Amino acid sequence: MLEARALCKQFGSLTVIDQVDFRLGADEAVGIVGPNGAGKTTLLNLLSGAMQPSAGQISYRDADIKDHDAAARCRLGIGRSHQVPRPFIGMTVFENVLVAAQQGGNAHGPDAYQRGVDALQACCMLERANRRAETLGLLDRKRLELARALATKPDILLLDEIGGGLTDGEAEELVQIIQQLRKRGIAIVWIEHIVHILVQVVDRLICMDAGRIIADGLPAVVLADKAVMSAYLGGGAI
Ligand SMILES: Nc1ncnc2c1ncn2[C@@H]1O[C@H](COP(=O)(O)OP(=O)(O)O)[C@@H](O)[C@H]1O
Ligand SMILES: [Mg+2]
Repeated sequence: MLEARALCKQFGSLTVIDQVDFRLGADEAVGIVGPNGAGKTTLLNLLSGAMQPSAGQISYRDADIKDHDAAARCRLGIGRSHQVPRPFIGMTVFENVLVAAQQGGNAHGPDAYQRGVDALQACCMLERANRRAETLGLLDRKRLELARALATKPDILLLDEIGGGLTDGEAEELVQIIQQLRKRGIAIVWIEHIVHILVQVVDRLICMDAGRIIADGLPAVVLADKAVMSAYLGGGAI
């Protein structure tokens, strides 16, 4: 459904993404792991349209989307969350999802309202609908980040370390929500350091190191891979 070929991204003389080929099937959930600085967030930025690649191709449902910006890709069905949640400050939780439904999801009037309610319900945030975004704790900010992405009615969700900073118990709550989203048929690309959380959701794991994909396959196989283990040496255990 989403495919990148020979993707490259350079910042000046620094090559951050180096000839990456990536494929995501409809209904698939793929996890991305790798040491800090491996290029995971940059890859997500290239897929979401937040950044332009230096070279390579990106297609979605067999159409070339390389020149579509993030807003256009979002309207096509590619939603994302950010490593640091980015709610609209000064707005309520409900206003946040409403804006997402309208601006990112082409929904209007009662449709947008219903989409917002549905997204909040799916992310266990309905009872906080009237809270201002800036008053939320970290778990609720992460849930709101998910709800905003969901309100755009994505076919694919790109998640960047949505579990970061949470306790194991809190991360488990996010897992339950994300599993429900999978059941709706939403395909998922999820970057996460907490691997035991990640493998509860994904059926495939990719490991990146120094801008390249060094392993791609079943989670158990990738985690036992020698190249993956050595990529983490010095960078902390998986
Ligand atoms: N906008 C940028 N300008 C220059 N260098 C960047 C930029 N964004 C990321 N980098 C560099 O690219 C590399 C990969 O970063 P990133 O994709 O954030 O890695 P990860 O998410 O795997 O930790 C790092 O060396 C980082 O410093
Ligand atoms: Mg990152």
